[in-house]
Amino acid sequence: MYNSKITGLGYYVPDNVVSNDDLSKIMDTNDEWIQERTGIKERRHVVPEQDTTTSMGVKAAKVAIERAGIDKDDIDFIVFATLSPDYYFPGPGVLVQRDLGIKTVGALDVRNQCSGFVYALSVADQYIKSGMYKNILVIGSELHSRGLDMTTRGRAVSVIFGDGAGAAVLSREEDTTKGVLSTHLHSEGQHAEELSLIAPGMGKRWVTDILEENDPQDESYYPHMNGQFVFKNAVVRFSEVILEGLKANNLQPTDIDLLVPHQANLRISQFIQKQFGLADDQVFNNIMKYGNTTAASIPIALTEAWEAGKIKSGDLVVLAAFGSGFTWGSAIIKW
Ligand code: UT7
Repeated sequence: MYNSKITGLGYYVPDNVVSNDDLSKIMDTNDEWIQERTGIKERRHVVPEQDTTTSMGVKAAKVAIERAGIDKDDIDFIVFATLSPDYYFPGPGVLVQRDLGIKTVGALDVRNQCSGFVYALSVADQYIKSGMYKNILVIGSELHSRGLDMTTRGRAVSVIFGDGAGAAVLSREEDTTKGVLSTHLHSEGQHAEELSLIAPGMGKRWVTDILEENDPQDESYYPHMNGQFVFKNAVVRFSEVILEGLKANNLQPTDIDLLVPHQANLRISQFIQKQFGLADDQVFNNIMKYGNTTAASIPIALTEAWEAGKIKSGDLVVLAAFGSGFTWGSAIIKW
C-alpha cells in the first residue's frame, strides 16, 4: 500500500492586474460593492495572444516539477482540470504533454469547475495508491477573462472571476500515515444550470445556431450564476465535506493546521472559518488578489501558503471546494 504526497507546487498568474476601479470604468460597478460582497480587490486577466489556459498551466507545472526535484520524464500521468479549455477538443492535458515535451504518458482532462482541482487530486491519488503510477502532474488552470460579459449586464459574474494556474506533483509515499489521507467527492446535478455556461453545446445551442440567430441579446454563451442560491449551497456543502473528511480519519476540527478553501468568495471562507473555530492564520485566502480562478484557485493558494512558510512537515492541511455542477469535495492531507 502507498499514499500519494505533494512533492512540488507552482503557480502562474498573468502580469496584467485589473482592479475594481478598472472594471468600474467599463461597467456599472464599484470597488465598495465588490469588496463588501466578495472581498476581491483585484484579479489578473491575460493579455490575449500572450497566454492560454494551457500555457499558464505549463508555466505553473514547470515550477512544480522543478520543486519536486524530478525530471519531466519522471512524470507518469497528467491530470488537467479546467472549465476554460483552449479548444472544444482535445482537452489541454495533451497540449501540456506536447508543450512540456513529456514522453507519451496518459493525459486526462477533468471537467468539474471550482471543484476541479480536488477531483483531479483525488484521481491522481487513486492511481498512486493503487501502485499504477509514481509521479503525477496535476494542473488547475483557467482563462475566464475572454469569456465573460464585460458589460453591466454581466457584472454579477464578471467581477468575480480571474485568470491563473496552479500545479502540483503527486508522488508515491511509502509511509501511509503521510500525504493524502483521503478525498471525498460529491455532486448534485439537480442544480446543474444554476451555475453554468450553456452554449456552445450539442445539447441546446451549437455555434451554428448562435451565428444563425445572430441575437445581440443572447446571453447563453456567457456564464450564468444564481449567486444567492449558489452561496447558500456552498456554505452548507463546504462544512459537510470538511467534516466528512475529518470524521473518516478520526480527526476533529481542532486538528486542522491549515484550511485552504476554494477561493469562491471571502465571505464564504470567513463563514467556514467561524463555523470551525479556526484562527485567521489557519485559513488561507488570496481571493483579494486573484478573484475566483475556479480550478486554479486551490493550487495557487496552496503554493502561496507553502511559499509563505505556512505549511510545515506533519501539518494537517485540509482542501475543500464547491462549485458548478453542483460538485464539491475535500482532501485531508498530512504534510
Ligand atoms: O466558485 C463557485 C461558487 N461560487 C460562489 O460560491 C459564489 C456565490 N455567490 C456569491 O458570492 C454572491 O451571490 C455574489 C457575490 C455573486 C453576489 O452577491 P449578492 O449579495 O448575492 O448580490 P445579488 O446578486 O443578490 O445582487 C444584489 C444587488 C442587485 O441589485 P438590486 O437588484 O438589489 O438593485 C444587483 O444588480 O447588487 C447588484 N449587483 C451589482 N452592483 C454593483 C450585482 N453585481 C453587481 C456589481 N456591482 N458587480
